Amino acid sequence: MSTTTFLNTAAPAHSTQGALLPNELLAQVRERFLHVDTCPYSGKRTYFENAGGSLTLKSVITQGAEIAAIPDNEHRDNPASHAISAIVAAGRNDLMTFFGISPDNGVIFGGETGTECLFRVIRAAALSAEAGGSLVTCAIEHPATYDATRQWAQRTNREWIEVPFDINAGRVTATHYAKFVRSDTRIATILHTSQ
Ligand SMILES: Cc1ncc(COP(=O)(O)O)c(C=O)c1O
Repeated sequence: MSTTTFLNTAAPAHSTQGALLPNELLAQVRERFLHVDTCPYSGKRTYFENAGGSLTLKSVITQGAEIAAIPDNEHRDNPASHAISAIVAAGRNDLMTFFGISPDNGVIFGGETGTECLFRVIRAAALSAEAGGSLVTCAIEHPATYDATRQWAQRTNREWIEVPFDINAGRVTATHYAKFVRSDTRIATILHTSQ
């Protein structure tokens, strides 16, 4: 989280206008995370991360330590293992609430990395889509998405289409996509925002 935090209000997605979070709310949010202003190795710093890291909630460390201390694993037939499975199930339910979905209109699943999850989502979509058609992506996407569409287009014998983007502004818009999305587009990956 950067020290200057913008909350998008009703402004259009491409707007540079925003509203600062009220100081009191910002202080409450910052209080919940570890190492907001300082790095344990390099000292005071402003956290502004674009890849491969994130601030961690204090509650995650507490909860993680409690779970890690249980000397058992999931998928065994004993009380501790059943209790761990119940914690995982409760976590999935909480995520469903957080994302506003229900079992009939969404799936919560986890993996070791974002890259793994994106490959699995795109694989599932590619394997279940009607034969033929195309997969549409853009080189401005994260490689996890970009590479997954290329690989699964190839593996399911579909056309792989790269949407050219605005190299001066470094962004891609719906207008760019509109030229390449067709009635036989099976998957389109779209970058919604970037930190
Ligand atoms: C938009 C986006 N997609 C995919 C990934 C890949 O996630 P991971 O590094 O966990 O594999 C990242 C990681 O920064 C990301 O920002």
